[in-house]
This record gives sequence, C-alpha cells and structure tokens, in this order.
Amino acid sequence: MSQLIELTYVSEPAQNMSFLGLMRLLYHSYSKNQALGITGALIYENNQFGQVIEGLEKDIEALWQKIQKDSRHKNVRLIEAKSISERSFSKWTMVFQGSEEVAKTLPEVTAAIEDVEFPMGHPLLIALRGA
Ligand SMILES: Cc1cc2nc3c(=O)[nH]c(=O)nc-3n(C[C@H](O)[C@H](O)[C@H](O)COP(=O)(O)O)c2cc1C
Repeated sequence: MSQLIELTYVSEPAQNMSFLGLMRLLYHSYSKNQALGITGALIYENNQFGQVIEGLEKDIEALWQKIQKDSRHKNVRLIEAKSISERSFSKWTMVFQGSEEVAKTLPEVTAAIEDVEFPMGHPLLIALRGA
C-alpha cells in the first residue's frame, strides 16, 4: 500500500517568469493535482516560491522529480519530506501576492485561491518568512 507523504520545498522563480507564465503554471498544476488527489499549498511571495504537496508516495515522488527539473525555477531546496497519517490541506490551494489579478485572468482557478490555515510553525512558513 502506498503511504501518504508531505513534501515541502522552497525555490526562486527563474528570470523572466512572466505573469502569463505563472498563470500557465498554476492552471496546469491545479488540473493535474486535482486529477491525482494531490493537495497542498503553493505560496509565491517576495520573489520566492514555497510549496507543500501531499499525496500518495508514488505520486509525490514522481511530481518531485519533475519539479526539481523544471527550468522555471532555480535553487530548489527540500525543506522536509515525511510520511503523514492524515492531510493538513484538504484541497490544493494557492496563496500569493497578486491573487486578485489571477482571479480576473483565470476564473477557473479562483476557487483554489484562498487564505490557507497553515498548521502552526509549519516548516514552509519558517523557511519563507522566518516565522
Ligand atoms: C514552483 C512550481 C510549482 C509546481 N507545482 C506543481 C504541482 O503542484 N503540480 C504539478 O503537476 N506540477 C507542478 N509544477 C510543474 C512541474 O514542474 C512540471 O512542469 C509538471 O508536473 C509537468 O507535468 P506533465 O509533464 O505531466 O505535463 C510546478 C512547477 C513549479 C516551477
């Protein structure tokens, strides 16, 4: 039986990550994660990405391989990967500066944009914000 895994990393957008490029990335990720039952959160702030992904080990491992090779970001640093007994995020969500713009551009994705309640002291917030 495949285990549930939660993986957290941070990275920096490669140069020239346009708004349109970010929109494409979000839309693609949103659709694929939904289909695979991958949940989590993507934060884009202060020119950094931070992401938590949760799902079955085989799916997370496959996605992590792709994410590390993605030339749209650099300095991809694994913060934590651990097995979990239940998910912290019930659906895939995104939190980032500019979400109002996204809502206008990609209304389909708007449902996924919300303020996520991060578990207290989640390593992603520590890595991104030092808090
Ligand atoms: C910051 C960042 C976050 C990403 N997050 C996801 C994600 O949550 N789900 C996903 O399928 N792809 C994500 N991607 C895209 C993957 O790196 C890769 O392009 C995608 O999985 C390719 O899928 P395909 O080859 O199956 O079309 C992300 C890329 C970046 C740069």
